[in-house]
Amino acid sequence: MSWSSPPPPPRAPFDPLQIARDLRDGREVTDAQFERLFPVRLREMSRVHWTPLPIARRVVALLAPTADETMLDVGAGAGKLCLVGALLSAARWVGLELRPALVQAAAVAARQLEVERQVTFTQVDAAAWDWGAVDGVYLYNPFGELLMRADETSLRSVGMLDGAAPYTTRNAYYQQLVDAVAAKAWTLRPGARVVTFHGFGGQWPRCLEQVSTETVATGPLELWVRRGAGGV
Ligand SMILES: C[S@@+](CC[C@H](N)C(=O)[O-])C[C@H]1O[C@@H](n2cnc3c(N)ncnc32)[C@H](O)[C@@H]1O
Repeated sequence: MSWSSPPPPPRAPFDPLQIARDLRDGREVTDAQFERLFPVRLREMSRVHWTPLPIARRVVALLAPTADETMLDVGAGAGKLCLVGALLSAARWVGLELRPALVQAAAVAARQLEVERQVTFTQVDAAAWDWGAVDGVYLYNPFGELLMRADETSLRSVGMLDGAAPYTTRNAYYQQLVDAVAAKAWTLRPGARVVTFHGFGGQWPRCLEQVSTETVATGPLELWVRRGAGGV
């Protein structure tokens, strides 16, 4: 008689296109299943840094993208929101991300899901990019890691945003990015939608009107709309 436990059931082979079909058809896909698209070290930071799939679906619904529109993820990470957005809508999705390793992983995942014609991942400072031509913007607290201690954020394993600067320097950089993003709201076209998950660290100026707020999973999900020409 053997006392060893039975072997675990064999893991289903990974099929990115089945993931794509399941998401498009509204079938349940877990975060762990989806993130098999990413290198292992990027899966480990998911719980804190990547948008969970049910919330990503909700974000896409709130942004309400149409076929001729362009949606932006400010600090796109491994690209999860843009990838889900491309699967669930006919819009174009642009992910702006500072870390090259994340941009590369996102581009590989887009090819695996066969949505590479619909999404673009660019390595750039999102606060310095031109937001004037987009119809919707998503932000998942993109600069929050700057306020975390070095040992609190696994994102540092894929490169530092701040060169391990002391807290006061990081805090000043954080404020600079938050202020730059708040000012970007004035450059959005009237009617553009903005969705935040856990905010972006600051207050939107009066040119954005809050439409809704809901609490999902770990924090608030808010929808704002750019007011008409003139801003108020
Ligand atoms: C909390 S993660 C969100 C990732 C992704 N939006 C998601 O929801 O799955 C924030 C990301 O913003 C990126 N980031 C921080 N500052 C940035 C900047 N100035 N420009 C572009 N990306 C930035 C970080 O590298 C990180 O990948």
